[in-house]
Amino acid sequence: MGKVMLEVNNLKTKYVTRFHEDVYAVDGVSLKIEEGKSLGVAGESGCGKSTLALSLMGYYFAPLHYISGDIIVDGRKISGMKPDDVRKNILGNEIAYIPQAAMNALNPTQKIIRFVEDVIHAHDPKMPKKDIYDLAKERFQILGLPEEVLQKHAVELSGGMKQRTVIAISTILLRRY
Ligand SMILES: Nc1ncnc2c1ncn2[C@@H]1O[C@H](COP(=O)(O)OP(=O)(O)O)[C@@H](O)[C@H]1O
Ligand SMILES: [Mg+2]
Repeated sequence: MGKVMLEVNNLKTKYVTRFHEDVYAVDGVSLKIEEGKSLGVAGESGCGKSTLALSLMGYYFAPLHYISGDIIVDGRKISGMKPDDVRKNILGNEIAYIPQAAMNALNPTQKIIRFVEDVIHAHDPKMPKKDIYDLAKERFQILGLPEEVLQKHAVELSGGMKQRTVIAISTILLRRY
């Protein structure tokens, strides 16, 4: 068995609705993902796939609440960490979430490179623009996006290119192996 990058043990989370009802959307989920492997989760609409993905990141905000269980990312237990520490040290660096239809969130008035700069500067305010450009160019190319995309606006890109653009941006801070 390869190195385990993500391990989840008996994770339980819930939504608390504004009518104070509890919705147990993730109720005792366990999984392991090895380095270089992927895991697909299939199920009917509303069965809890998105909630599981959100819950896995260990960063909870209302109406979603943590109940119990462990989340271990690359050997580090993140369940039980302070939300601020998770946000600063884990999200974007160790684990990233790409929401469905995220491409629709690209602001049409900005060039793609601006989104990359925004994301990186939120974590590393001192990174020079040249370094950001070089990193963006490398990561975009991995996803089949030419360097020119960085100077374009979202309306100039096809749906697939926009989708790959948000994937590249969402994962730009992740460590390279
Ligand atoms: N903000 C919320 N408040 C209360 N219940 C929610 C909320 N978001 C999702 N749910 C409920 O959690 C369940 C799982 O939803 P979701 O994770 O979005 O499913 P999937 O991604 O598999 O379609 C659904 O029954 C849904 O109604
Ligand atoms: Mg979903």
